[in-house]
Amino acid sequence: MTMNTRAEAFAPATVANLGVGFDILGLAISEPGDTVRVEWTDAPGAHVARIEGDGGLLPLDPEKNTACVAANSVLNLLDVKQGVSITLLKGLPLASGLGSSSASAVAAALAVNALCGSPLSTMELLPAALDGEAAVSGRHADNVAPCLFGGITLVTGIEADDIHRLPIPEALYLALVTPDVPVPTALARSVLPDSISLRDMVAQTGGVARVVDALYRGDVAALACAMESDRVVEPARAHLMPMLVEMRAVARSAGALGLVISGAGPTLCAICDAAKTAERVAGAMQAAYEQAGIAAVSRHTRVSETGAKVLQIDA
Ligand code: HSE
Repeated sequence: MTMNTRAEAFAPATVANLGVGFDILGLAISEPGDTVRVEWTDAPGAHVARIEGDGGLLPLDPEKNTACVAANSVLNLLDVKQGVSITLLKGLPLASGLGSSSASAVAAALAVNALCGSPLSTMELLPAALDGEAAVSGRHADNVAPCLFGGITLVTGIEADDIHRLPIPEALYLALVTPDVPVPTALARSVLPDSISLRDMVAQTGGVARVVDALYRGDVAALACAMESDRVVEPARAHLMPMLVEMRAVARSAGALGLVISGAGPTLCAICDAAKTAERVAGAMQAAYEQAGIAAVSRHTRVSETGAKVLQIDA
């Protein structure tokens, strides 16, 4: 194995679920994201030397820090005994529904692989990134997969055959708004029902099928309608999302075709079919939150074909 001395990787924000596709659908945007720098150290195992941009909130404990868990997982896969020191530069807000824990895990897995001379393929890094995600929010790959591979993904497991790249409609534009009200994923998962009726199961699977069909046909209006057809998860989580009903109305009046919770929230994602509309919708949603006394950050963006990437390798 060719060992390098330092490596740095970037992993982008993701929107999980796409409304109706709980735990199986997700997409990547190009930024913001998290950056991880790694270098060798004498102490065995991975440990976090420094975190910037988390307001001191993230754990340094190697078993609880998502980047560290993913880094250790790669070291174990490669049977590398030497230790790794991690610097995590958080570009993503925590507990925001933008896949923050996945981005840290993916960037760490990619950086450690690069440090070791990149012996593993991107696909082979998926289980390690999932180990990192599992340390904080459960073992589901709907953020991790688009974060690693880019684009829109349907994920039905952790083998190569379980990752399905879906087409990105030409006219798909997104408006995202993140109110400054953290919603921890564990909390947002704890309010979900343990079981659902057969009727809801049929509606939910029908909704996911409609999302996939709309993506293949490039029909953004049908996509928005299908994404919004979630009868299970959004109703259970709605009370955790500030002004969800009002924001859907604001987004629609500004021209959006629909709006869903991004991942576990509280970020909301409006679906639009033109760049100008997405810009207007993002501004309108941010203004509506601010008028209600809730600080918020908005962005208008598109799906990114590219996922996480190695930024630098020092031999
Ligand atoms: N599918 C996950 C959820 C995404 O909605 O809980 C957040 O990790």
